[in-house]
Amino acid sequence: MPHTDVIAHRGASAHAPENTLPSFDLAVHQDAGCVEHDLHVTKDGLLVCMHDRTLERTTNVREIFPRRGQEAREGGALVRHWFVHDFTLAEIQQLDAGSWFRPEFAGARVPTFDDLLVWARNRVAVLTELKDPDVYERRGVDLLMSCDAALRRHGLMTRPTDGAVTVQSFHEPTVRRAGQLFVRRVPVVLLVESTDAALLRDRKRVTALAAFASGIGPEKSIVRDHPEIVGWAHDAGLRVTPWTFRAATIGSFKSVGAEMKHYLAEFGVDAVITDHPDESR
Ligand code: G3P
Ligand code: CA
Repeated sequence: MPHTDVIAHRGASAHAPENTLPSFDLAVHQDAGCVEHDLHVTKDGLLVCMHDRTLERTTNVREIFPRRGQEAREGGALVRHWFVHDFTLAEIQQLDAGSWFRPEFAGARVPTFDDLLVWARNRVAVLTELKDPDVYERRGVDLLMSCDAALRRHGLMTRPTDGAVTVQSFHEPTVRRAGQLFVRRVPVVLLVESTDAALLRDRKRVTALAAFASGIGPEKSIVRDHPEIVGWAHDAGLRVTPWTFRAATIGSFKSVGAEMKHYLAEFGVDAVITDHPDESR
């Protein structure tokens, strides 16, 4: 049975290449109740599942398109980036998004949002993160409206979808717009970084978020340091889904599994977002 309190972060990304169908498949096999993924926009305006704005960390783009990187100066050093927005979908689909992780995943492709929605239907819930909507807005692209169009194409906007898809972002203006646009047919979640923890330290402010959001996604240290936020959110009708539970950041817990259990049982969060859905029980 799927565990509705376990959200697989970029799929089962501790064990398979993030944001690919093998990673999403493995998450379902490991009984995650929901699969989290990220969205960026290609040069031809199509949505693809990718965490970074650039392709070089998780694909072989350097090898396939060696001359298409953009030079930039970062911290005094000259670096090259291959931005998603500089490549068409047809070009991105030529890339290998699996070999960087382990050789047995060679040939994994970058899925489109449409691919993911077809794959997920009647199988698992999806948590969609809109990445950098403000950056795309400056490029004349409305990431939220592209997402809305995809959800409509897949029949996810015509009725309450029982949480088949939830949309989240760190960008509060986009989450507010999504709340108005989706009118609760698709839940929306405001993500909060630890550097913005002060936003959640005021009970009135947390309560006010319920006017447009169905939930909050705090970085997990915010809940650890201020567990009272969970009760405030629940009193306002907001779900709480902290991130990211992974082996490398367990602090004083004995295991990532023990840490997740603590957040669920002791802090009372609604679900945990984890690279290790297999460690949740
Ligand atoms: O679901 C929240 C989490 O995914 C946000 O962080 O950087 O992994 O997208 P990131
Ligand atoms: Ca994410």
